[in-house]
Amino acid sequence: MSIKVAMVGVGQFAQYFIELYQAHPLVREVVLCDLDAEKLKRNAQKYGVAKMYPSLDAVLNSDVDAVVIITQHWMHGPQAMQALRAGKHVYSAVPCGVSLEEVTQLVRTVEQTGKIYMMGETSYYYPHTVWCREQYRRGTFGDIFYAEANYHHDWDIKSIDSRGIIRARTGDRFLELAGEPPMHYPTHTTSQIIGVTGAHMTKVSAHGWVDRHPDGIYDPKVNKYGNAFSNETALFTMSDGACACVNEFRRVGHPGGEFMSICGTEASFEYTQAGRVIIGKGFEDTKNLDDLLTLRPGVYGGTAKVHDIARLPASFANLPNNHWGSHHFIVDDFVKACVTGEQAPNNVWQAARYMIPGLIAHESSKQGGVQLAIPDLGGPKP
Ligand SMILES: NC(=O)c1ccc[n+]([C@@H]2O[C@H](COP(=O)([O-])OP(=O)(O)OC[C@H]3O[C@@H](n4cnc5c(N)ncnc54)[C@H](O)[C@@H]3O)[C@@H](O)[C@H]2O)c1
Repeated sequence: MSIKVAMVGVGQFAQYFIELYQAHPLVREVVLCDLDAEKLKRNAQKYGVAKMYPSLDAVLNSDVDAVVIITQHWMHGPQAMQALRAGKHVYSAVPCGVSLEEVTQLVRTVEQTGKIYMMGETSYYYPHTVWCREQYRRGTFGDIFYAEANYHHDWDIKSIDSRGIIRARTGDRFLELAGEPPMHYPTHTTSQIIGVTGAHMTKVSAHGWVDRHPDGIYDPKVNKYGNAFSNETALFTMSDGACACVNEFRRVGHPGGEFMSICGTEASFEYTQAGRVIIGKGFEDTKNLDDLLTLRPGVYGGTAKVHDIARLPASFANLPNNHWGSHHFIVDDFVKACVTGEQAPNNVWQAARYMIPGLIAHESSKQGGVQLAIPDLGGPKP
């Protein structure tokens, strides 16, 4: 059995994925879709794709089995639900939705339709997350009682990288959309913690830093969110009794990235710009983990020793990868889930557990840090 896949949105991020879907042995055809006719044609030529669709509606009327949604992030929830209702499996770039209501509707739509949904969360597959998940299963950490995850992405519009990305994504709605609350894009942090222990967030108290930058994107009178915070910090209670701290920073003098630290009763893992180490009982000294966690150029596009490349299709071996070696695993997990009917790790229930804590954290920030309960939509259903 194999599937026919439609790439919906062929912008910057999709460039990393089109070839991977084309190369997967369980994908028999890839078609492209974008509202921008020029971009669509350019990509069809670049990737040698014969079939193009000018809209999501047109794709959903076709015989594709699955859609890969890599449109701008505020569109993901409604587009995913439309596709599920049309009988298609759905892969969505992060985030899965923009409000608690939208994420709840998305989960219910998956439950009603029985189709596969997977959110393409990259941090879940990062070498350090993979390694900590395995060590947690083995008991190396003992009980994890504290974890801290960071996503630093400086939005200073003087930075060529960020300006290019956010301007291209928002177009002439830049001022309206760029000042989104940092906690409305929380999946890169929450997934690093939930992706290790499996425990989810139950309560939150959060704090926001009122932006001072003259570009004005965080002026609550300018952006559509009425948001003044460019940096937010949240303290969560976890379902296993642990405590977790999440930092979502968009104005930070830092090169950026996703990283985390863990404290357990037996051992602790620390990941900062200075490196990645484990220390604890049974370790005479800190153990440097660079050998296991550093990417090896050319090995499945740049994967680490800790990555299980043996499970990947051989056809991926010489293809590009990105986001710390995660892309090959993301594509493989989604395609296999569609073909086997078995849930992928970042299924819709897990996506909701990554997303909802951030949405509630922002509400707490707005209320001066008042502790709020986090609704849970449950785990994967058989
Ligand atoms: N690490 C990560 O997980 C990660 C990294 C980068 C980007 N992303 C996500 O990827 C998404 C896309 O980012 P990007 O930089 O490629 O944006 P982009 O603006 O370059 O591309 C989006 C494309 O979607 C198209 N589009 C919009 N509505 C459409 C519709 N109804 N039908 C068909 N096409 C439509 C646009 O024309 C555009 O070409 C974002 O949501 C972002 O959150 C995730």
